[in-house]
Amino acid sequence: MWRDLAPIGRHADSGGYRRYAWTGADGECREWFREQAEARGLGYEADRNGNQWAWLGDPLAGDAVVTGSHLDSVPDGGAFDGPLGVVSSFAALDELRRRGAQFTRPFAITNFGDEEGARFGLACVGSRLAAGQLTAEKARLLRDGDGVPLPRAMEAAGHDPDTLGPDPERLARIGAFVELHVEQGRALDLSGDPVGVASAIWPHGRWRFDFRGEANHAGTTRLADRRDPMLTYAETVLAARREARLAGGLATFGKVAVEPNGVNAIPSLVRGWLDARAADQATLDAVVDGVERAAREHAERAGTDLDVVRESFTPVVEFQHALRDEICRVLGKRGPDEAGRTVPVLGTGAGHDAGILSASVPTAMLFVRNPTGISHSPAEHAAEDDCMAGVIALADVLEGLACS
Ligand code: GLV
Ligand code: MN
Ligand code: MN
Repeated sequence: MWRDLAPIGRHADSGGYRRYAWTGADGECREWFREQAEARGLGYEADRNGNQWAWLGDPLAGDAVVTGSHLDSVPDGGAFDGPLGVVSSFAALDELRRRGAQFTRPFAITNFGDEEGARFGLACVGSRLAAGQLTAEKARLLRDGDGVPLPRAMEAAGHDPDTLGPDPERLARIGAFVELHVEQGRALDLSGDPVGVASAIWPHGRWRFDFRGEANHAGTTRLADRRDPMLTYAETVLAARREARLAGGLATFGKVAVEPNGVNAIPSLVRGWLDARAADQATLDAVVDGVERAAREHAERAGTDLDVVRESFTPVVEFQHALRDEICRVLGKRGPDEAGRTVPVLGTGAGHDAGILSASVPTAMLFVRNPTGISHSPAEHAAEDDCMAGVIALADVLEGLACS
């Protein structure tokens, strides 16, 4: 499976993945998913929001155990963020069949659409739509960097955008959702464990800062006469770092667009996107308020204008305790390792479909050790032994939940 996926959407120069929602590379990944489902005799379907499902047992019976993740990527993303969860789900099913496990609950593997939001700016579009956290009207207004509306992109990829919308009946038929994911930090590396269980996801969001000034000639406009939004932007980037450090959160400007984007012109517009996260809401508010206040103060001094728009927000997610405890019990039952450890429980600052679904469905996550912690980068990695430990842990968990 890993070999099949490896070349899809891989950029020759960077070695990173560019699997953006509803593009050709995404379509190849989706086709791969359908083939994996069919090769195992699973019932395949794409739901009204374009999420893919592979069913063992009756999808309508209710109380299903579902596992999966996503196959799309950030710009120049790594191979593991998303695909590790989907591949491990199929591999865990293969392992359960090898064990001769008898399923007593319906079981499904999913690939949620557009998890990263790399193309249309909003993360977890497929799961947000299904959970009713994004309306079809708002989704239809999303556009990519070239101005292509989401409905047109979906249609071009063969999915009918008229069906978009909440899917409460589908979610009500899920008794438990478990997402396995590569860890995007070094907690497991530091604790020396191949696999961990998630406790919570930090609240996080994306804010668009539009800094407007006056376009003018770089070679003839006196410094004193300039209204340069790039300066306000630069001050704001520094403020983001400072506010995050002081409050104990995280703040990142990782994407910027400049107009007219000419080397010899003072810009008229600098548009920067702030990604901010923190362990709790009060800290997140302090970071974002502090960045906006600093940006406004500088704009005032520099004669530039500023608009701030919150483009997305996900509140803190505390994964369901009963399911988490059950998973810890199943994994703990295997006994401590040579060092006497059972399974570590850890929080994360990364967003996931599991976080979105947790508002509607009992949800849990497993993390697989990432030796460097690097993610959203071609350097993202997990060792093969750890990936296999993840598959076995997932199989154990699914067996505990779905099999007699
Ligand atoms: C998703 O990976 C996110 O946390 O941005
Ligand atoms: Mn990601
Ligand atoms: Mn992911």
